[in-house]
Amino acid sequence: MKFFITGGSGLLGERLSAIANDNYDITLSHNSNPTGNTIKCDITNEQEVEKVILNNSPDVIIHCAAMTNVDLCEDEIDKAYDINGNGTGNIARAGEKVGAKVIYVSTDFVFDGKKGNYSEDDEVNPLGYYAKSKYDGEVQLKKYSTNWAIARVSVLYGWHKRQNFTTWVINQLRQDNDINIVTDQINSPTFADNAAEAIYEIALQDKNGIYHTAGNDEISRYDFTMKIAEEFDLNKELIHPTNSTEFVQKAPRPMNSSLNVHKVEKELGMRMETCSESLHRMAENE
Ligand SMILES: NC(=O)c1ccc[n+]([C@@H]2O[C@H](COP(=O)([O-])OP(=O)(O)OC[C@H]3O[C@@H](n4cnc5c(N)ncnc54)[C@H](OP(=O)(O)O)[C@@H]3O)[C@@H](O)[C@H]2O)c1
Repeated sequence: MKFFITGGSGLLGERLSAIANDNYDITLSHNSNPTGNTIKCDITNEQEVEKVILNNSPDVIIHCAAMTNVDLCEDEIDKAYDINGNGTGNIARAGEKVGAKVIYVSTDFVFDGKKGNYSEDDEVNPLGYYAKSKYDGEVQLKKYSTNWAIARVSVLYGWHKRQNFTTWVINQLRQDNDINIVTDQINSPTFADNAAEAIYEIALQDKNGIYHTAGNDEISRYDFTMKIAEEFDLNKELIHPTNSTEFVQKAPRPMNSSLNVHKVEKELGMRMETCSESLHRMAENE
């Protein structure tokens, strides 16, 4: 099977490449950070997207590229919509031209967090501009592609040259720095390798529709941080509880955007890991 993966220089794109079977034919793309095995494709440039996809003619496009800095999206709203919304529209139209399935990686932030444990058919209500623009990507995907799937993930983590929440915690605690972590934001931290496994199953089993390819937990950021410290044998006393009122962030965050993974487990026939399981796997691969 021939895959074209956008965001190949990012965390999930890189892990998709790292865990791929030898018989997958994979092309990875980047925008401004080439990695040696990626090709340039700015998803906001419709002509460039069309040219690259027509040239490559994949069976499946796994669309990971996004403007992922949640707070920056509040300052650069047009750019957020251009990359996350219109960029996804460009990918969907190009995919349609070559008859490719498009799997778009979306986010738990499409929900407002009032309920938690969200299923795929729950109502969305994105709060900030990252969330709204990523949801616009979902809308554009459905509008322009006839063979689509959406894989929603939450607080992605894993080994990568750029920091994510988990590697930031590990680095801070290893340097004996105190960190303040909110106790009142709950989600489903997702190990990039496990999300990548689920995304390949969507492709191989030729599924359509929405899938919550997330970690198998409903856990506060504070409790998740304590689990990181436990697994990596780090000093828990450096971790101080705070809350969203004291720790002010630019973009509004859903309070409980945890994702229910039953549909993935039932339909794809695979287990989504708890964060204890995934952190253990991550530690073994350091
Ligand atoms: N990180 C999380 O906690 C989280 C949570 C929920 C959902 N998600 C979703 O999961 C997906 C993967 O996230 P990630 O953490 O792996 O991302 P990441 O590491 O932040 O990487 C983002 C990727 O997007 C690419 N990109 C940005 N602008 C682009 C453009 N104009 N054209 C082409 N590529 C562009 C970047 O390319 P260059 O670096 O080469 O410019 C990079 O490869 C995203 O769709 C994100 O919205 C992430």
